[in-house]
Amino acid sequence: MRIAMIGTGYVGLVSGACIADFGHQVTCVDKDSDKISALNAGKVPIYEPGLADIIRSNVRQGRLSFTTALREALDGAQAVFIAVGTPSRRGDGHADLSYVYEVSREIAAALTGFTVVITKSTVPVGTGDEVERIIRELRRDLDVAVVSNPEFLREGAAIHDFKHPDRIVIGTDDERAKKVLAEVYRPLHLNQAPILYTGRRTAELIKYAANAFLATKITFINEIADLCERVGADVQEVARGIGLDNRIGSKFLHPGPGFGGSCFPKDVRALIKTARDCDVSMRILEAVETVNDTRKRAMARKVSSAFAGVLRGKQVAVLGLTFKPNTDDMREAPSIPLITALHDMGATVRVYDPMGMEQAKHVLAQVTYCEGPYDCVEDADAAVIVTEWEQFRALDLERVKALMACPVIVDLRNIYRPEDMKKAGFAYACVGRAPTFQPVDLYVPPARGQSLFTAAGHPRPIA
Ligand SMILES: NC(=O)c1ccc[n+]([C@@H]2O[C@H](COP(=O)([O-])OP(=O)(O)OC[C@H]3O[C@@H](n4cnc5c(N)ncnc54)[C@H](O)[C@@H]3O)[C@@H](O)[C@H]2O)c1
Repeated sequence: MRIAMIGTGYVGLVSGACIADFGHQVTCVDKDSDKISALNAGKVPIYEPGLADIIRSNVRQGRLSFTTALREALDGAQAVFIAVGTPSRRGDGHADLSYVYEVSREIAAALTGFTVVITKSTVPVGTGDEVERIIRELRRDLDVAVVSNPEFLREGAAIHDFKHPDRIVIGTDDERAKKVLAEVYRPLHLNQAPILYTGRRTAELIKYAANAFLATKITFINEIADLCERVGADVQEVARGIGLDNRIGSKFLHPGPGFGGSCFPKDVRALIKTARDCDVSMRILEAVETVNDTRKRAMARKVSSAFAGVLRGKQVAVLGLTFKPNTDDMREAPSIPLITALHDMGATVRVYDPMGMEQAKHVLAQVTYCEGPYDCVEDADAAVIVTEWEQFRALDLERVKALMACPVIVDLRNIYRPEDMKKAGFAYACVGRAPTFQPVDLYVPPARGQSLFTAAGHPRPIA
């Protein structure tokens, strides 16, 4: 089947490459000519594990091509996927649908026969109706079916997720469209991936409800982590203790610096906005948004608490910038507000990320970009682990300690064990577990004249 994929970002490029890998003929379109030139030159403009190989092999076999010319891509296509961005609209948090509507108008102008137009972008309820209205208004002669087919892949594991989805949601009442989509996804269906046929509006809402629920789960465990710190409980064990309950499940119960990324923050905002427009209150989600926003900056206090609340003049090494490992995506990464807060407290900041530094340079100024984790921690008064990249899990701790000016590690992803870090001689703070030193703003202020620091200026260990 001939298929056009409009938008070659994280979703469009992965979807296009995987659908070509199923055996279909896919043309990917983007209006960003630099992206298309790079792809045509064999370069992949984003980092996603395994993606370069799939692109290379499908291009070689003549099933995958790239162009800026939408009309060329639509020629003979039975299905057209819209996978352009839907960022937050400035000011009100509503999804910015201008790219979706612009593409809809371009598609309307270029179509020739019956075509299924499929929205893969995450769009608020009712967007499919509007896309259909735009196309019908511009081309009364055309026979089209507009379908919602939201995407659930996770960056960093996108190929696996696309090829092994928990479910495929297809929102349409049009029997011809169902047939076309069943054909697109036939290899997955043969692999037992359930296809859920729903109404179009329902499909649109499923995507937002899924992301909002996962964001809520993360925020819930983050608040439980805060409580654990106060009462001397261990959040890792609490998460395991509740996660083993099948009704709850163990996924998305990892405490950390707050959720970020290209989807959760904007999708939570957009769902709240949709609900408000419909006079429905979404108080749980409003709390999730506020709690999460506050949390990211608050993580800086974990660092300052190792220095009696004073970070002025200190040098902080930040390990990991992207919102999660195995991606180069910096959109709404928790590292950004954290670093801003560290700056506001007077610290200087050195950073290292295995894949995200190029994108980080567009959003993070006044930091020193380092060559590797050891270069980053050199002479630092504290190191903060913000993203749980595999290479940070196995640092040579002796070497880290020898390089740092002060052996303070703040692990916002709980990738080390407090007892190991204590043994290694670090003042170690993490999330939802007791730190190995007396953090200042979690405990009574020191008695007059009593220092929380050793003679060498290190935070005084608890025991
Ligand atoms: N990134 C994810 O993990 C993820 C997961 C599931 C769903 N989604 C949703 O998928 C959609 C796309 O997300 P993304 O992360 O791939 O976005 P992205 O910003 O990485 O990519 C969007 C692409 O669309 C292109 N584009 C915009 N207007 C165009 C036009 N008129 N013609 C051709 N190309 C155009 C842009 O140049 C860009 O390359 C969003 O709605 C997002 O919410 C994203």
